[in-house]
Amino acid sequence: MLRILVCVSGGGTNLQAVIDAIGDGRITNTEIAGVISNNKNAYALTRARQSGIEAICLSPKDFPDRAAFNRAFLDKVDSCLPDLIVLAGFLVTIPAAMIEKYRNRIINIHPSLIPSFCGVGFYGLKVHEAVLARGVKVTGATVHFVDEGTDTGPILLQKSVEVNEDDTPESLQRRVMEEAEWQLLPRAIDLIANGKVSVTDGKVRYK
Ligand code: GRF
Repeated sequence: MLRILVCVSGGGTNLQAVIDAIGDGRITNTEIAGVISNNKNAYALTRARQSGIEAICLSPKDFPDRAAFNRAFLDKVDSCLPDLIVLAGFLVTIPAAMIEKYRNRIINIHPSLIPSFCGVGFYGLKVHEAVLARGVKVTGATVHFVDEGTDTGPILLQKSVEVNEDDTPESLQRRVMEEAEWQLLPRAIDLIANGKVSVTDGKVRYK
């Protein structure tokens, strides 16, 4: 059984997609060991608790400095004994010590086709605003492993979504979630849970 720890900051629709996919068998060999949010008001926490999953809030605001938060965060993560950490809309920078300790065992979902519209400052609606401002015709989502950079780790899965002429950032965000994110994240976890993925020279290969 792959034990996953899911880190969230917001609505938690990607968390819900994972919970649902475990429920209906699209993800096998996997259990959610816990959910961590940096935001005590995140609806994702409610979703987790409604599904009987232990969910806690750990906010940088409750610590004297970032180093103290990072230590507490890593302690909490370690105590869950995760095989895989899933960043599902988590807006906190992952401490370097955690990236090192959990190399190729942390995945993130990003709402664009990396390397477009990613990196520092590209999160949430800002991604979709930039897509529309540039006028690209195709966008999408990417699941990648997390390394020291921002959205630079090995790419696991990508799926494209067409941009419509009348899209708003909100309508595009919704479609990217429905057509790409909620399918990709469960698929990525299932691949990892079933030993179908390896990382060599910074690239993902399917077994
Ligand atoms: C998603 O668009 C995800 O790609 C991004 O943050 C958003 C989280 O949405 N990283 P939700 O909390 O899963 O609904």
